[in-house]
Amino acid sequence: MKSIQVELGARSYPIHVKSGLLHNIPKILSDYNHGQKWMIISQYNLMELFGFDLLNQLKENGYQIDFITLPVGESAKSMNEFSRVISQMVEFNCDRSASILALGGGVVGDVAGFVAASFMRGIDYFQIPTTLLAMVDSAIGGKTGINIAEGKNLVGAIYQPKGVLVDPEILASLPKEEVTAGLGEVIKYGAIWDYHFLNDIAGWMKNLDTFPYEDAIAKSCEIKSEVVSKDEREGGLRRILNFGHTIGHALESHLGYGRIRHGEAVALGMKCAGYISHKLGLLKKDEQSNLVETINRLPLPKLRHINGNHLMPFIKTDKKSEKGTLNFVVLEGLGNATTTTEVTEDLIRESLKVLN
Ligand code: GLY
Repeated sequence: MKSIQVELGARSYPIHVKSGLLHNIPKILSDYNHGQKWMIISQYNLMELFGFDLLNQLKENGYQIDFITLPVGESAKSMNEFSRVISQMVEFNCDRSASILALGGGVVGDVAGFVAASFMRGIDYFQIPTTLLAMVDSAIGGKTGINIAEGKNLVGAIYQPKGVLVDPEILASLPKEEVTAGLGEVIKYGAIWDYHFLNDIAGWMKNLDTFPYEDAIAKSCEIKSEVVSKDEREGGLRRILNFGHTIGHALESHLGYGRIRHGEAVALGMKCAGYISHKLGLLKKDEQSNLVETINRLPLPKLRHINGNHLMPFIKTDKKSEKGTLNFVVLEGLGNATTTTEVTEDLIRESLKVLN
């Protein structure tokens, strides 16, 4: 088992990555079990796939455990669902000693993490991510929250889990396109932090059927944990994790959620950000081509007629949330990201030609 420590002083925690780990959770959690109430927070389909097995294993090993399910999709990240889960926790006799297991992708992790942050002023929780995106990104770093009518993630907390338990074998039960789309986020880690990793990924992607997910996930977790350890509250460095996301998020919002996968949107956003980095004189032409070739090994959706008029309103919303300044993530060479406020609207518009 590969174990990576997220170093945050008294709030440090391990990320364990191992195929088959899901069958070993009672043992992994044994040091944390003091006879308290445990709650799996998940979705019913995930309970059927993995959750009921996990629940039974934990019960057989003496854990006092129940489960609560959330609806599938972004609608779970609502005040109503949040308050329903909190009430159910009370009905299940959870108290301040209770612990939560967040079994799911980004939505489950965000809601369950926020429940953990707020129930009785904060209880322990563990992330058990079930998507590639959650395994390499959202389950690590403590970002939790829900949406309100005025915007996404406007209510939340940075509240670190006690551990992240990653079983790459879970990916075999997901649709192949869902998994490969998540590779956009894996490429991101190579591009922003480690040129050699990016080269490895490029080689592995020549045959997606033999892609070594366990190694790639472990390395991505290592990079994310290093960044989060250095800048937990996103004062500066952590922003580089948003490489490809400014244009990626705008594409998701313009096309409508469900029309493009997050990892695909990020992959396309990285192509634009690579172009912008080159135009700013930060990334050599051959480095930009290397990045684009790697991204193009993903089966990406073909987009037509995307132009600045479609995307700029969403990019400006991003800008609003940064007090009027767009902090755009660019590459200063492959494997080295930084942010700049020098990216003009014209350059963003020009970069969109790489999408057509
Ligand atoms: N998903 C980016 C971050 O955790 O900061």
